[in-house]
Amino acid sequence: MPAEDDPVSQVRVLPATSADAGELLTLQRATFLTEAQVYGDLSIPPLLESLEQCVARLAQGPVWKAVAGSRIVGSVQLGIDGSVGRIGRLMVAPDWQRQGIATKLLQVAEKTAPAEVTAYELSTGAESERNLQLYRNAGYREIKREQQTDKVELVLLAKRRRTKR
Ligand SMILES: CC(C)(COP(=O)(O)OP(=O)(O)OC[C@H]1O[C@@H](n2cnc3c(N)ncnc32)[C@H](O)[C@@H]1OP(=O)(O)O)[C@@H](O)C(=O)NCCC(=O)NCCS
Repeated sequence: MPAEDDPVSQVRVLPATSADAGELLTLQRATFLTEAQVYGDLSIPPLLESLEQCVARLAQGPVWKAVAGSRIVGSVQLGIDGSVGRIGRLMVAPDWQRQGIATKLLQVAEKTAPAEVTAYELSTGAESERNLQLYRNAGYREIKREQQTDKVELVLLAKRRRTKR
């Protein structure tokens, strides 16, 4: 398919701002509901976040959005914790999944991390095999497991930043 006919090649990854909060929270609730259904647990943090909390999170940044035309179809966040970049809230709209957008968002979050970041960490539910595979494919390895809620066991994964030579 020529690049100009490939919808994914038209997706741009841009910094998200607090003006995107409503749209991002709507996308977050829609995408993480499928995760909540896997565990039978509606109390996972992405579903409990309020609009005010979402605005505050966007103000902390960096949060990235994947944009197709005028629509936000994905997002990811990078939290800076000393030398660790904590990647979170990775999400892609159902009709845009399995086309490499999450992989692209992950790459942008990693590459744009400040210089002091030497490793990345992220977590996902132990039963979310597709998510685990996506992260393994991106070079992440399991470092530990912990209970998030009564029903959800989290797997923490990490990856060292490649140093430029
Ligand atoms: C998890 C999530 C972000 C993945 O988004 P995505 O854009 O579908 O992810 P990608 O397309 O980059 O990769 C997913 C799979 O599609 C495959 N893929 C990528 N491009 C593809 C293409 N053009 N054709 C077919 N498959 C493709 C990838 O190889 C990957 O395969 P895998 O499942 O064997 O690893 C998305 O499913 C989601 O929003 N889920 C709900 C929220 C959630 O669980 N977030 C993660 C929290 S930790």
